[in-house]
Amino acid sequence: MVLKAGAADRTKLYHFKVDKLLGKGGSGTVYRGVDTKSGQVVALKLFHSHYFQNRSHIKELAKSVARFKKFKHTNIMAIYDFLTGEEGECLVQEYVDGPDLTWYIKNRPWDISERLMICAQICNGLQYIHDQGFTHHDLKPGNVLFTRTGVVKLSDYSLYRAGLLSSLMDTGLKDLVTPMYIAPELINKHKATPQSDIYSLGITMYLLFTEKVPFEVDSLQRLYQCHLKTMPDHPSAVNRRCPQAIGDVIMRMLAKDPNERYQDCDMLRVHLGEIGKSRI
Ligand SMILES: Nc1ncnc2c1ncn2[C@@H]1O[C@H](COP(=O)(O)OP(=O)(O)OP(=O)(O)O)[C@@H](O)[C@H]1O
Ligand SMILES: [Mg+2]
Repeated sequence: MVLKAGAADRTKLYHFKVDKLLGKGGSGTVYRGVDTKSGQVVALKLFHSHYFQNRSHIKELAKSVARFKKFKHTNIMAIYDFLTGEEGECLVQEYVDGPDLTWYIKNRPWDISERLMICAQICNGLQYIHDQGFTHHDLKPGNVLFTRTGVVKLSDYSLYRAGLLSSLMDTGLKDLVTPMYIAPELINKHKATPQSDIYSLGITMYLLFTEKVPFEVDSLQRLYQCHLKTMPDHPSAVNRRCPQAIGDVIMRMLAKDPNERYQDCDMLRVHLGEIGKSRI
């Protein structure tokens, strides 16, 4: 659950002046801050103290952040630094001034072309992450942010390395990734791959094109069983406004066998583009 934005419970964090609470999610609390040295406005994710399972996870993330700092892609949230010290573990990121995809799904009028364009941007961002040898692991509407001009920025990518994630599965899967979006092979403790991100994007797109979650169950165990064994209703049957062809794409993304999903996000984007064109 994300805590609403508002007044912050602190005024500073490391060398940043904190001026706003942006929200609170499963992994930490996010503040807007101003770098007192450079004046740059940033978003600061202060991780919950229980988030890191052990020292090696902190070291792994520090190592990954050294790579993330060099990432450059329009659809990826820039990461500037990872600070560790007495004030806690803190990720310094680009500040994005628009809403997220959860807000979009609830509030924006139905427009298939616009929704397909958002998916294309997510595909571009995800493909870039995969090309750098990382997987996202936690793709969901809350981690798809928008700038005020509608540019998608993927956030919270690869907070766990693929191998480390699977080794930590026994300690509480639901605390590491968001259960509604998790691929079946991760539940079975296999390594995260680009195809597991494609599955999470499939669940995200299911929501975007049906405005409903694919599995409505009341327990985590049942949810895992659905991910492992049940195909959801076809999106076009759930929402008549969702074209059959888009529903077919989503169903392929949700295949239980990762090999049956799209080979990569570029292929998926091209396929969605063809559907978009054929509708004109
Ligand atoms: N870089 C950013 N710029 C602006 N707002 C941000 C940024 N990162 C996160 N936020 C906002 O802060 C709030 C909390 O984000 P957070 O990532 O902690 O939550 P979450 O995505 O729901 O959970 P989690 O990613 O931990 O699973 C959200 O409302 C999000 O839109
Ligand atoms: Mg997030």
